[in-house]
Amino acid sequence: MADNNINTSLDIEKVRADFPLLQTEMRGKPIVFLDSAASSQKPQIVIDAISKYYNSQHANVHRGVYELSQNATDAFELGRERVRSFLNAESTDEVIFTRGCTESINLVASCYGRKFLSEGDEVIISAMEHHSNIVPWQMICQEKGATLKVVPLNEKGEIIMEEYKKLLSDKTKIVSIVHISNSLGTINPVKEIIDLAHEKDIPVLIDGAQATLHSKVDVRDLDVDFYTFSSHKVYGPTGIGVLYGKRKWLDAMPPYQGGGEMIKTVSFENTTYNELPFKFEAGTPDISGAIGLGIALEYVKDLGFDAIAAHESEILTYATEKLLAIDGLKIIGTAANKASVISFLIEGTHPYDVGTLLDKMGIAVRTGHHCTQPLMDFYQIPGTVRASFAVYSSKDDVDKLVAGVERVANMLR
Ligand code: ALA
Repeated sequence: MADNNINTSLDIEKVRADFPLLQTEMRGKPIVFLDSAASSQKPQIVIDAISKYYNSQHANVHRGVYELSQNATDAFELGRERVRSFLNAESTDEVIFTRGCTESINLVASCYGRKFLSEGDEVIISAMEHHSNIVPWQMICQEKGATLKVVPLNEKGEIIMEEYKKLLSDKTKIVSIVHISNSLGTINPVKEIIDLAHEKDIPVLIDGAQATLHSKVDVRDLDVDFYTFSSHKVYGPTGIGVLYGKRKWLDAMPPYQGGGEMIKTVSFENTTYNELPFKFEAGTPDISGAIGLGIALEYVKDLGFDAIAAHESEILTYATEKLLAIDGLKIIGTAANKASVISFLIEGTHPYDVGTLLDKMGIAVRTGHHCTQPLMDFYQIPGTVRASFAVYSSKDDVDKLVAGVERVANMLR
């Protein structure tokens, strides 16, 4: 695989050829897939790795003395090592496999919350959070008598850092904030958010669901306490995600679920728990998922983070200019630092109608509140149409979107 620092440009046609789904049709037309923020498509090498595993490598892991099981264990643990390397974590002990980013946040809210939250404590989130980074904290706060504090945004959809600073106090027990907003594309200043919390010894969770798709993440450079993401958003299979946690927190937290794998000894009187990372991985894990995720992360590294960022930035600028030229179109989320996600509204139309008509033209976008209802309330809108781009998105995709949106706008008005 190529050194990830060397690649600075992409051969977009070659990249697109890696993704079989992009060669298919939707509604009888070549698909224009612009919903990668919901889930990205999969390169053939990921599909092949999963298929190979089930064809010739499958057995349960960490259990068998026989060769097949040992090989499956090695392949599964190689997936974990690839995640460690991708995040630049210190140890694979700090890489916990979960069902997805949502479960990773639920795990921290539940386990950290059970141990460290008490009545009168506060948890800080922001006004742009996905429901997955709101509801788990609401649930544990209700249980513990703690309070959820919400950092407000400005009109562009940026966190107001002065307000954040004011909310940090001796009562704050954890900060949990999204790296890149799924609805607005805002890239938050996570390093600054973490540093400010650490000045008061407050740990920080960063929800990286959207970030791993677009940018390099280095958990040691960030000095982040917990970092969460889903495989399916970064070209890997669905059903598996990651919780990175600093060892000191993972050691201090109680387990999440009980069952196989997470135990050291069990008797009817008492159970002792396994070491990290297995303490948090009850039951047979998603073996093929870890293998597929590992291959997906290698694929990303091989393309090169700089090349991916340069390509997506070009697509974002191109699409933003073209869409803004459409009469009555307004972009929601205009942060100075933005990832390749564009939420928009067209005057006099409903997002759902726009999305439905685009579908008929073979264009896949997401419409609605994007699991961020409080954010939609902030903008006093029912939802948006969202086009989200990935490494395989092309200017041709953007041209088709723009032509489609112009047509839809004329039809609906
Ligand atoms: N959270 C995903 C999205 O933004 C599903 O579409």
